Amino acid sequence: MKIIWQLFGAHITLSLIILILFLAWLFWPRKYKFIRKGLIRSCGLVLLGSILLAFYTYWPREYHKRYLDDQLSAELKATLLKQLADSIDFHIGMATSPGSPYQDLIAQEFNSVVGENHFKPGKLLVDAANWEFNFTAADKLMDYAQANGQRMRGHTLVWGKFPGMTFPSQWIEVINSAEDPKETMQGLIKRYIETVMGHFKGRVSTWDVVNEPMGGESLYPSIFSNSMGEEYIDYAFKIANQVDPECSLFLNEQIGDYQGPQGKAFLDLLKRLVDRGVPIHGVGLQSHQINRIHDTDALRQYIRAIGQMGLKVEITELDARLLLFGGEDDPYQAQGDQFRKVVQVCLDDPVCTGVTLWGVTDGANWMDGVPPFKWKSPNAPNIWDEDMNKKPAYVGIWEALKGAQTD
Ligand code: G3I
Repeated sequence: MKIIWQLFGAHITLSLIILILFLAWLFWPRKYKFIRKGLIRSCGLVLLGSILLAFYTYWPREYHKRYLDDQLSAELKATLLKQLADSIDFHIGMATSPGSPYQDLIAQEFNSVVGENHFKPGKLLVDAANWEFNFTAADKLMDYAQANGQRMRGHTLVWGKFPGMTFPSQWIEVINSAEDPKETMQGLIKRYIETVMGHFKGRVSTWDVVNEPMGGESLYPSIFSNSMGEEYIDYAFKIANQVDPECSLFLNEQIGDYQGPQGKAFLDLLKRLVDRGVPIHGVGLQSHQINRIHDTDALRQYIRAIGQMGLKVEITELDARLLLFGGEDDPYQAQGDQFRKVVQVCLDDPVCTGVTLWGVTDGANWMDGVPPFKWKSPNAPNIWDEDMNKKPAYVGIWEALKGAQTD
């Protein structure tokens, strides 16, 4: 709700004003001609204003690519991100899909990968009514990662946000009609995690056991939280730990404002999980920068706070929308600086063991496919541009990793 208001607040307010003015004009007694004229004129003016605002907001912008004129240093061209990361035992990762046209590049530049979609329930549990799984595509990705010596982050086992992709839609009816929804949900979670983690046991070393549990300051209202409350998280981690005690188990979340109410509520949740002895080993901070540029000082403190609870951290889905930097003199450079800062903050704290990027090229990025982001361009949130030139964002990451070399 808050996000809808952030994105469309101005449009909603203007539409309401137009409606009120129009209705007032419609029902105002006809004898007050002067007032009625004023109302309809104001209505017209606000309408014009909102049309102009819509044009201003959604008109595609273009920013000058100054980086194309710059020469990348010979050292930068010769040394890959993966080489730099390997030498300091750090994970630099990329989200990908089986058969991606960028697989050779990803194999060269990254020592860790994650399936952007193919390890999610919607892709694996193809017939929920009959518990029928199809691991073909995910196995293909797994084989690719293993052949290239890359770590695979498993993403994700339990996620209650989008029925169909993040959990089978049929489960809604199963839970709604259950005599004991809690027990039924435990059965679903157990069977799902046992099958999927069991299938990848020994090959996937890190799993996002639960993804995006928060809905603002409280738990996101899903079939999981509605039937089990917060305990669904404990339960999922407990089962995951039983299936593969060697696996690193992560709770993955997108926080927009680390010092805001959601950030604080998530820390409180982590503290409760740790206090209850839940077998959680790490926290994934997604770090999509979609509606705001993240405060990296706040991120630094946040990572420290998580580390003090005895948990590891990874930046798991880093990208940053170019539009956010539109007010800067050189938006591409400002975007690059932000990538460098985020990676630097992670490198500076020993509990933060890796950074994964959520897309290779601006030419194929998830934001261009999802409303309302697809209506505002350029999103261009990745480190290679649509012509596969290395952007300042690539250089920023490279420089942070280079600066962390010990010899
Ligand atoms: O492949 C089908 C295509 O055949 C069909 O025509 C089209 C019609 O909608 O859908 C395509 O599937 C889409 C898929 O992305 C591949 O593009 C799904 O509808 C769409 O739901 C799916 O969105 C993914 C989203 O998670 C939901 O699972 C995005 O690719 C993926 O980038 C995004 O990743 C999430 C992380 O898992 C969690 N954190 C946030 C992050 C970004 O939203």
